Amino acid sequence: MLYLSRPLLAACLYLLLPWGQGRTFGYNNGFHYQDISNGDGNGEIYFSGIRLLVESPQHLVSATRGSSVTLPCHYRYEPELTAPRRTRVKWSRLPAKAITTNEAFALETEVMVAMGNRHRSYGSFKGRVRLRRLAPGDMSLVINELQLNDTGRYRCEVIDGLEDESVTVELELRGVVFPYHSQKGRYHLNFFGAQQACLDQDATLATFKQLLSAWEDGLDWCNAGWLADGTVQYPITAPRHGCGGESSAPGLRSYGPKNRLFHRFDAFCFSASMKGIVYHLNHPRRMNFTEAARACARDGGQVAKVGQLYAAWKLKGLDRCDAGWLADGSVRYPITNARANCGPSQPGVRSFGFPAPHMKFGVYCYR
Ligand SMILES: *[C@@H]1O[C@H](CO)[C@@H](O)[C@H](O)[C@H]1NC(C)=O
Ligand SMILES: *[C@@H]1O[C@H](CO)[C@@H](O)[C@H](O)[C@H]1NC(C)=O
Repeated sequence: MLYLSRPLLAACLYLLLPWGQGRTFGYNNGFHYQDISNGDGNGEIYFSGIRLLVESPQHLVSATRGSSVTLPCHYRYEPELTAPRRTRVKWSRLPAKAITTNEAFALETEVMVAMGNRHRSYGSFKGRVRLRRLAPGDMSLVINELQLNDTGRYRCEVIDGLEDESVTVELELRGVVFPYHSQKGRYHLNFFGAQQACLDQDATLATFKQLLSAWEDGLDWCNAGWLADGTVQYPITAPRHGCGGESSAPGLRSYGPKNRLFHRFDAFCFSASMKGIVYHLNHPRRMNFTEAARACARDGGQVAKVGQLYAAWKLKGLDRCDAGWLADGSVRYPITNARANCGPSQPGVRSFGFPAPHMKFGVYCYR
């Protein structure tokens, strides 16, 4: 065994690597090595000509709610090693890219750490994640039972002694963004109320990216709503007076971060497909709200939530020109093929707002 004292820096031709059972490597020139044993006393030598590479062939992964997804991540050494090394892998979820200085709530969260065959997962990822390990160096993360709030950027970090390399992969869910206001009317929700309102409708507060892509798909809404990052914004495709001005370009208008407790706005919620189906109940007569709830229950379901109706409209093409009760006491109907007597000339979910509960309509059930 060759023991090296530190600091040591020299060009050399042959080197005995302690972790390679005394195997001799031949490098002809150009490389130098350092003893950087980091306190554990076993004198590992990191040959600085060897690089740790962490890569992902896919930087954006798109998936559906409830499904399983794989976020690819591989590491390798260059040049290749002949003996395995002890590496630690850590997957974490990153806060959305800050667009403001208010990052107090944007904390990085740990998803999973693994070393050898041992691993541990955290928080809402517990029991839902594993490493794929199809081949040596395959540290791809498999997430099962995808939830609405799993979207975001994930970092795969490989730690080998002092070397630490990482790659990030973005996970997005296919879904739909919809504006939502409380039954009490416009601008009644603080941030936490908005969070709860979306949750109650089987949705989650939309992220900036989700609202941005909804705007790219044509969403135009002149009431400001909370987003998941605590900012308040609204999407405008046709600039006009009272919606940020006629002369400003189309885009997302932002009020920036607002006080989560004291400021009140609407919400932008994000919903994605679910396992059940949403349907307009065949019923001989129109019903008040309590009758509607009973009718869905008799049919083995429950009154559909707003997020479920939007998801059925956007992702399953639900198209029905009959207004129906929804679980929050609003009345709406979904149109994918715009036509005469079914609202405006664009597809969309039409809303009658929150009628008095004794008024009579059809109902959308979820089963
Ligand atoms: C995400 O949603 C799930 C289910 O609704 C919840 O249990 C979990 O706490 C949420 N996670 C975060 C980080 O908000
Ligand atoms: C709905 O109609 C039923 C009678 O069929 C009545 O008992 C009930 O009070 C009504 N509910 C509302 C909210 O008006």
